[in-house]
Amino acid sequence: MDKLYRFGISLEKSLIDAFDRHIRKRNYSNRSEAIRDLIRNDLLIKQWKEGGIVAGIIMMTYSHHKRELVSKILDIQHDYQELVISTQHIHLTHHDCLEVIITKGEARQIEELASRLKALVGVKHLNLSISAVGDN
Ligand code: NI
Repeated sequence: MDKLYRFGISLEKSLIDAFDRHIRKRNYSNRSEAIRDLIRNDLLIKQWKEGGIVAGIIMMTYSHHKRELVSKILDIQHDYQELVISTQHIHLTHHDCLEVIITKGEARQIEELASRLKALVGVKHLNLSISAVGDN
């Protein structure tokens, strides 16, 4: 584990009060952990913008009854096969399927994959979640 460093931060009282209320709602045990997460998040956004490697999970629901949709979804995934690590298909209800696509690669490409899938007729919902890869 990395060595820990301590440093002081000066903030307006109103700002630290608002921050404390915010982190209490998010169930952080202390300010340090909350500030660590803010820094990690900011570095992840930087990584994203600079085209760094990230992990992404695409979660989508779509109509089971549109038969051609399944093959379109698979065709698109094959176009990005270097990004796709794993997929899981769940028959959510009689009408709907849930698909989870786990990816790793350039954020921009993962976003492109997600937006191509989202644009397909019959896709009801799609959410892309990104996580940092590496030491941060
Ligand atoms: Ni299904």
